[in-house]
Amino acid sequence: MPAIFPRWTNKIPLAIGVLGPLALAGAVGGIWYYFSPKFTDVGYRPRQPVPFSHKLHAGDMGMDCRYCHNTVERAAHAAIPPAQTCMNCHSLVKTDSPKLKLVRDSYTTDEPIPWVRVHQLPDYAFFDHRPHLAAGVGCSSCHGRIDQMTIVEMDQPLSMGWCLDCHRDPEPSLRPRDQITNMLWDPAVDGKNYDAAKDPSRTRQVNPPEHCSGCHR
Ligand code: HEC
Ligand code: HEC
Ligand code: HEC
Ligand code: HEC
Ligand code: HEC
Repeated sequence: MPAIFPRWTNKIPLAIGVLGPLALAGAVGGIWYYFSPKFTDVGYRPRQPVPFSHKLHAGDMGMDCRYCHNTVERAAHAAIPPAQTCMNCHSLVKTDSPKLKLVRDSYTTDEPIPWVRVHQLPDYAFFDHRPHLAAGVGCSSCHGRIDQMTIVEMDQPLSMGWCLDCHRDPEPSLRPRDQITNMLWDPAVDGKNYDAAKDPSRTRQVNPPEHCSGCHR
């Protein structure tokens, strides 16, 4: 019999048998490592330089998120308020509280308060608040019950798998667009009575990107 396959091909089954599983294990390990919630820091809760409480201001006092994060519907990023915003009240309330010293200093010197960033995607991933809010995804879907937090912490993994879970099936996460900052609007409860497809204020169906270049530009 003439050799149809060269001799080295005899090693292919070995290569597939040994190296294949190794490569697969590596890939699975890598994916598991990168996409596990641990790596993505759910519960990350850094100490802030001023003990500002969302529970007090947004929860008990009922301030709307956009009073402070006023660019969230107009820009990719939500602005962190300058000391001026705090001083609207704190030039009258708790004027000599030591907890507010840094705020008063920042106001007089114009040095920004060194808040510690909680949520931060890597540079190679693109995110913009605007299309999400315009489509009627609420802050609480991605940031959790901020109104109950005395110190902000990461509620969701912000991993690629997490983004895609919603992008593949966004309907259950949609709400009337005038409810986006309402922390009490619960998609699991109130969502039962809301059908985005029947909302007359919507002019088109939402269609979040699932292709790579949608989020990696
Ligand atoms: C009185 C002003 C004020 C209001 C009202 C307010 N915030 Fe904030 N928010 C801040 C400040 C100041 C920070 C930065 C310090 C910190 O993280 O606590 C912040 C931080 C955050 C962060 C974390 C940002 C990061 O570093 O990743 C999120 C998310 C957030 N706010 C969401 C909300 C939501 C949602 C609401 C409405 C329920 C809201 N905020 C209401 C002032 C405010
Ligand atoms: C679809 C998910 C999603 C929704 C809805 C959402 N956020 Fe965010 N938010 C994010 C992600 C992701 C980041 C991190 C962005 C980055 O690192 O580029 C972020 C970051 C922030 C920050 C830090 C500053 C910044 O923009 O990077 C603040 C403050 C914030 N969000 C407030 C809000 C408020 C207030 C609302 C509701 C009006 C809201 N977010 C709705 C996902 C969301
Ligand atoms: C709409 C008014 C208002 C705004 C705006 C506001 N606060 Fe307050 N804040 C209050 C009130 C009222 C209290 C006090 C509640 C009480 O009596 O304990 C308070 C309490 C505090 C305290 C606790 C002070 C202490 O001695 O116990 C801190 C810290 C604080 N605010 C930080 C901030 C920061 C930082 C900002 C800006 C990002 C801000 N606040 C914006 C009304 C406001
Ligand atoms: C809870 C649901 C939900 C989550 C979580 C979510 N998205 Fe979206 N995303 C949407 C919806 C809804 C739209 C709007 C689609 C439309 O209007 O057709 C959207 C649109 C987008 C767009 C298109 C913006 C444009 O202008 O083309 C990008 C990019 C995007 N999302 C990135 C992300 C990234 C990155 C994450 C994770 C960090 C994420 N999204 C998490 C629901 C979500
Ligand atoms: C809906 C938005 C979205 C889409 C669509 C998307 N990605 Fe991502 N991707 C992300 C986000 C957000 C991260 C960062 C995750 C993190 O920080 O944990 C990421 C991370 C990654 C990483 C780095 C993972 C690591 O090692 O940390 C790679 C590689 C990647 N994406 C490839 C792709 C490819 C290939 C596609 C198309 C099949 C794709 N992505 C589609 C949002 C997206």
